[in-house]
Amino acid sequence: MDVIKLGLGGFGTVGSGLAKILDSNAQRIEKRIGKRIEIRSVLVRDLTKKRAFDPGPNVTFTDDLNVLVNDPDIDIIVELMGGLDTAKDLVLKAFAAGKHVVTANKHLLAEHGLELFDAARDHSTGLMFEASCAGGIPIVQTLKESLAGDEITQMLGIMNGTANYILSEMTTKGLDFETALADAQDLGYAEADPTFDIEGFDTAHKLCVLIRMAYGVDYPLNEIPIQGITGVTPMDIQFAREFGYRIKLLAHVMDVDGKLEAGVHPALVPYTYLLARVGGNYNAVRLKGNAVGPIMLHGQGAGDLPTGSAVLADIMNVVRNVGEGCPAPDNTGFRNQPLTKANIL
Ligand code: NDP
Ligand code: HSE
Repeated sequence: MDVIKLGLGGFGTVGSGLAKILDSNAQRIEKRIGKRIEIRSVLVRDLTKKRAFDPGPNVTFTDDLNVLVNDPDIDIIVELMGGLDTAKDLVLKAFAAGKHVVTANKHLLAEHGLELFDAARDHSTGLMFEASCAGGIPIVQTLKESLAGDEITQMLGIMNGTANYILSEMTTKGLDFETALADAQDLGYAEADPTFDIEGFDTAHKLCVLIRMAYGVDYPLNEIPIQGITGVTPMDIQFAREFGYRIKLLAHVMDVDGKLEAGVHPALVPYTYLLARVGGNYNAVRLKGNAVGPIMLHGQGAGDLPTGSAVLADIMNVVRNVGEGCPAPDNTGFRNQPLTKANIL
C-alpha cells in the first residue's frame, strides 16, 4: 500500500492530537483513501522535552526546519507550531519544494494569508486550513463546499474556546478569571500567549480567515474592531444571569447593502438563544445564506483531538486531490483568485 509521509512542524497539543488519531484510526483512514499516512519527521524547539505521546520509533525529531523541507520523501508539511516567523518560513520553503501544506495557524493566515495563497498558487501547491477556525467544527469546508452557491449575508458566533471556557466557568462555577484561564491552559485550549484568546485577537484572526471564505474578499485585520473579555467582571456575569442573559465573546460580520461590517466584542446574549447555551471549550457559528437560510455549526473549538481531527481531514483531502490528478486544492473556494479588498461599511 502507498504511504503518504508527513513532516510535522510542532508536536504540542495539536501535533500530538494528530499523532494520536493517526494511530487510533489508522485502519479507517486506509479504508477511506487507500493509502497509509505516517509521520516521518517532527520539527520542535526543544529536543530534550518529554512528549505527551510517543509517535513511534520511525519518527525523527529535529530542530532544523530544512530537514523537513529538503526530505524528498515527505509529501505534506503540517504546520502546527503557531507564531509567525518560523511558521511562515516553513510554509514558504515547503511550497518552493513542491510540498502541500496543512496549517492550523490562523494568526499566520490572518497576517500573511494573501502572500501565502499567492505563493501556493505560484507553486501549484495546496494550502489547507480547516483547523485554523473553530477547532473541530468543519466551518471552512462548509463555506467552501456546502454553501458554495449561497450569498452569505451574516456570520455570527463564538470562535474562541478559551474565552468561552473562562466565561462558562465563571458563570456556572463562580471561578475567578485567572483560575479559569489557568485551567484552559492546562487543558491545551489556550494559545502559547493567552493574550490572543482573552483580548479577542484570536477570534479576529479566525473572523478574518472566514470572511475570505464566505465573501472572497480580504477584510484587513487592522480594520476589525476588537474587544476582549478581560474587562468582564464576576458582577457583570451575575447581573447578566439575573436578567436572563449570558455574556459571550462574539464575532460577527454582516453584509449591509454590499458593504461588510465586522467586529469582535463581548455581548449580552438572551438565554433563550442557542448561542447563550454554548458551554466550555465549545464554539458555535450561525451562518445565514440567501438560499439556505440560517444554519448553526456547534462543536469543540479547541483541544488536541477535535483540532487533530480537522487537520487530518485536510491531509486526507490533499491526498484525495493528488490521487485524482488535481495537485493544488483550491484554497479559498474562489478558484484561487487573488482576493480583492473588502468594501467596508
Ligand atoms: P503548542 O504550544 O502546544 O505546541 C507548539 C509546538 O510547536 C511545540 O511542539 C513547539 O516545540 C513547536 N514550536 C513552536 N515554535 C517553534 C519554532 N520556532 N521552531 C520549532 N518548533 C517550534 O501549540 P498548539 O499545539 O496548541 O497550537 C499549534 C497551532 O495550532 C497554533 O497555530 C494554534 O493557534 C493552532 N490551534 C490550536 C488549537 C488548540 O486547541 N490548542 C486549536 C486550533 C488551532 P516544543 O514542544 O519543543 O516547545
Ligand atoms: N486558543 C484557541 C481557542 C485554539 O481557545 O479557541 C483554537 O483555535
